[in-house]
Amino acid sequence: MRAAELVAGSVRENPSAAIALPTGETPKGMYAELGALHRAGLDFSGVTIFNLDEYVGLEASSPLSYAYFMARELYRGINVPESSRRIFDSTAADPEEECRRYDRAVEEAGGIDLAVVGIGRNGHIAFNEPADALHVGSHVQALDRQTLEVNFEVGLKQLAEAGRPPIPRSKFPTHAMTMGFGPIMTADRVLVLVTGSAKAEPMRRMLDGTVTTRFPASVLQLHRNCTVLADERAAAGSR
Ligand code: PGA
Repeated sequence: MRAAELVAGSVRENPSAAIALPTGETPKGMYAELGALHRAGLDFSGVTIFNLDEYVGLEASSPLSYAYFMARELYRGINVPESSRRIFDSTAADPEEECRRYDRAVEEAGGIDLAVVGIGRNGHIAFNEPADALHVGSHVQALDRQTLEVNFEVGLKQLAEAGRPPIPRSKFPTHAMTMGFGPIMTADRVLVLVTGSAKAEPMRRMLDGTVTTRFPASVLQLHRNCTVLADERAAAGSR
């Protein structure tokens, strides 16, 4: 898979790379492939991983958390030391302060070398939802209705897979902590992963030659080293 090869290339080139990674359905295949590359000898021991986002207010062990997702989908397959796995603390008493802590960690790493991102149906990048203005730094974000609908359905599947009972929609997190656009736009390289027919229209809007914070993915047109990897269904209708 080209996405995993691209990430592997960054790690080979810079064994202490700082890499930002997404969650969701799209990157699962890439994570499995990175596990296979690790078994074939690729060393991640010097790499630092920053997750793009995390829900506010879950228990540490919740299968809904992105920490749980990363442990299951990626970290059990590769050798990134625990101390080099960065993610917002969903249980933080003060999520805004947690965002400041996260920004300091990104700064201490010297910024992001490679940012791998997915796009939401509404064009969000990480949880930077459509808005009149985008944030540079990490912040607490109220999730859009459409994002909540999609993520609630995904969350129910995750709970079932973990053998946990379903939760009512009213108990699903409505806010997340997310990296802002700053570390993504200043990353040396951005890799956008887009799969499935539901992403064909978002993909088209991402690339259509206009830039608007009302469709955050469109801002990536201004990045100097941005690669989009799409499957055929997502690419249908795009140039
Ligand atoms: P998905 O999520 O990979 O599950 O479609 C992408 C996103 O919402 O950023």
